[in-house]
Amino acid sequence: MVFKLLKQKKYPSDTVFDEIYPKLHREHSARHFTPVNIAVKAARLLADKHTDKILDIGSGIGKFCCIGSSVSDAQFYGVEKRKALTNLANKIKRNYKLKNVHFINNDFTALDFKTFNGIYFFNSFHEYLDSTCVLDETSKVSLTEHTQYHLDLKMKLNECQKGTRLVTYYTFKNKIPSSFQFIDANETGLLKFYIKK
Ligand SMILES: C[S@@+](CC[C@H](N)C(=O)[O-])C[C@H]1O[C@@H](n2cnc3c(N)ncnc32)[C@H](O)[C@@H]1O
Repeated sequence: MVFKLLKQKKYPSDTVFDEIYPKLHREHSARHFTPVNIAVKAARLLADKHTDKILDIGSGIGKFCCIGSSVSDAQFYGVEKRKALTNLANKIKRNYKLKNVHFINNDFTALDFKTFNGIYFFNSFHEYLDSTCVLDETSKVSLTEHTQYHLDLKMKLNECQKGTRLVTYYTFKNKIPSSFQFIDANETGLLKFYIKK
């Protein structure tokens, strides 16, 4: 079973991992959800000890959080605005008896970012910019919403406590407030690591 493999540091391919999801979501996975090897690297950058609380902004079907919680003892929280995706993530959590992972159905702006010491962000507002980036019938292109959500993201990241770690995937540096110091990038620059000053 894929979560046992992850705990043993044996990393399944995305095709094998994504078998836990229904067909529609498997088809979306390559475009919308974090690949296994990236999720493992990001979780390692973010999580150090079991008291760490990591937030995935726009957790979708929970792929990053479920993988992170299997390769670390930290608590992983996913916030997702789509109820159906949150329900599916919670179903996976229940079916596979994953303990240190939690899913919240809400807009990310409703959360208190001071309670987390690690943040993960995989370009969650891209659907507002790109008409080919369709997750469901509610997807729509809106430059106004795209701009507003990125302003909200900067505001929420500015609320984080000093020392909070941030990992972004497919996200330009200009989307991150200057209160976060850029530390390093890998995966040919796609995975970026910052720490709150
Ligand atoms: C690219 S997917 C990333 C999924 C997940 N982080 C992963 O890496 O596997 C982006 C997700 O962000 C969600 N999202 C977009 N805007 C949001 C908002 N304002 N609040 C919460 N979730 C949001 C979308 O519904 C979508 O499921």
